Amino acid sequence: MADVHTNNGQTRRSWLKQAPWAAWGLITAAVALLSGSAFRLLAHGPAADANLAPVDMGPVADIKPGQVLTKGHAAVTRDDQGILALRLACPHLGCAPDYDRAKGQFLCPCHGSRFAADGALLQGPAKSGLPAVAVHVDKQGHLIVKPSQEADPGQRLQV
Ligand code: FES
Repeated sequence: MADVHTNNGQTRRSWLKQAPWAAWGLITAAVALLSGSAFRLLAHGPAADANLAPVDMGPVADIKPGQVLTKGHAAVTRDDQGILALRLACPHLGCAPDYDRAKGQFLCPCHGSRFAADGALLQGPAKSGLPAVAVHVDKQGHLIVKPSQEADPGQRLQV
């Protein structure tokens, strides 16, 4: 059988000999991309677990207006309406967002979602903001956040 030549002089047969290597390259690239996402998910979440333990955020008096504190899967902020607690679990796939003090935003390291200091969604792919969760002051005057117990995002703890 005669070889069919392409425009650049390659034969169809020589091109077909390279096809398995090209397929192998595509598969390797796909696995690398997927494992990168998997690594980010393992490193940063998922945090949307219903059994997250309560988090002691320290003395309530230490949380100043406008300040955001984070610890484990919990964050608290104090605004002029009171104290709001958030679960640090991205609604997209559950990674734990980090708080960027310079930007005043929570940034998800997995796929780039961004949230305001009060948890409101600023940029997807997440479709909603960070969940507000229950918070109370214990007998020692410490803020105790319950990351697994969702709360009304409009409600603040008055202290
Ligand atoms: Fe995908 Fe946060 S887990 S953007």
